[in-house]
Amino acid sequence: MRSVDLTVKYNELTADEFVTLWETVWDGAPSREQVRLALEHTLFRVSFYDDNNIVAMARVIGDMGLNYYIKDVVVRPEYQKKGIGRTLINEITRFVKENGVIGTEIFVELCAVPDKMPFYEKLGFKSNQAQRMFLYQRVE
Ligand SMILES: CC(C)(COP(=O)(O)OP(=O)(O)OC[C@H]1O[C@@H](n2cnc3c(N)ncnc32)[C@H](O)[C@@H]1OP(=O)(O)O)[C@@H](O)C(=O)NCCC(=O)NCCS
Repeated sequence: MRSVDLTVKYNELTADEFVTLWETVWDGAPSREQVRLALEHTLFRVSFYDDNNIVAMARVIGDMGLNYYIKDVVVRPEYQKKGIGRTLINEITRFVKENGVIGTEIFVELCAVPDKMPFYEKLGFKSNQAQRMFLYQRVE
């Protein structure tokens, strides 16, 4: 990482930190309860801190065998363009490589908004013809 000295933590990201960081880049943060459950069921999470303040996070969900899905890659705006995003993704791919079945190819996927595609392309990701389909399922 260039010109910033941060602390890294593995699998310690909290719901409060998640929401705090989310709100620096997006509106409509999910509830603490949803985030707490999501983090509990996440395979691997990595987070970076500047003097105990959360500045970056990413996590990966999946089945450990065939599929991994990268979620919630965020670098606080003041810390962007310093190589932190690249480090987040490298940490996740290291986790996948260290835990996968030797000799296999593992599908690692994510959903990128168009203006972030060049960032992921620089890190080796490609796009294909598949379209994302989704449903917001109301829970009563
Ligand atoms: C996307 C994001 C994680 C990138 O983090 P970052 O720390 O700024 O990225 P890095 O500094 O590690 O950049 C790595 C490389 O990608 C390039 N890059 C970063 N963002 C880019 C963008 N939006 N468009 C084109 N290139 C980009 C950098 O210039 C750098 O290139 P280099 O190695 O040739 O110098 C960050 O902008 C962010 O958190 N954005 C808001 C949340 C978000 O949209 N997350 C992604 C959801 S799809």
